[in-house]
Amino acid sequence: MTLTRVFADAEDLAARAAEIFAEAIGAALRDRGRAVVVLAGGTTPCAAYERLAVLVAGERLPLDRIDWLTGDERWVPIDHPDSNEGMARRSLLGPLGAPERTIHSWQPARGDPADCAARFAARLARGPLSAGADLAILGIGADGHTASLFPGAAALLPGGREEPVGPDLPVDAAAVRLPSGVRLTLTPKWLGMARCVAFLAAGGGKRDALARTLRGDRAAAAAWVRGSVDTLFLVDRAAAGPGPDATGRDVRYA
Ligand code: 6PG
Repeated sequence: MTLTRVFADAEDLAARAAEIFAEAIGAALRDRGRAVVVLAGGTTPCAAYERLAVLVAGERLPLDRIDWLTGDERWVPIDHPDSNEGMARRSLLGPLGAPERTIHSWQPARGDPADCAARFAARLARGPLSAGADLAILGIGADGHTASLFPGAAALLPGGREEPVGPDLPVDAAAVRLPSGVRLTLTPKWLGMARCVAFLAAGGGKRDALARTLRGDRAAAAAWVRGSVDTLFLVDRAAAGPGPDATGRDVRYA
């Protein structure tokens, strides 16, 4: 199922998205005794993460059986203000008291980025992460990128190999060279294993990117990723644009 849920504003989006995330985590725990959650970076998810921490704690979900990782990371230490893991720890994992062994860090800014991504890919292939994610929360950039999948940028692969970032990258994780610096990212290959992919987008600045993603414009990397069961677009009215949606897609206005 692909569903777009349109909420009144960014605050309403954060509150309702947190409820939807908590439900998805609870369902995974019920169905398979574990939950693997990919967390988006950037700024939009922060408020939802703060509410999710309260919901997960309130429902007393078993923290030792929920595994967390970020969908991408900047090449900075975790205590750096630009760190996605740092943001996730401050807004969700810290307040929740998530056990360290359940937080799967990219361990960025050490050694060679391509090797760092390859080490992370090896980690994805074993243990709790090997079944893929139950919930992958992803953002959408104003240019249509998601995670750190920037179309055409150079993906740095082990052994000095480089490939353009695209929907068919043959690895589960890669380093990406951008004008702004190096990033680490999960690829569509691994993200597409997620039972549920939930995109979060807020503000008028995301309207064009969201529209392109929804109509499947392959120049928008967010169009490359869909859940293996469900794909949700959780957006506010500013990002969705004036309704009602005339495309016949499943759009629900909160
Ligand atoms: C990152 C993200 C990136 C983000 C989008 C949207 O590291 O920046 O993972 O993919 O989700 O750029 O970012 P905002 O939520 O800040 O608009």
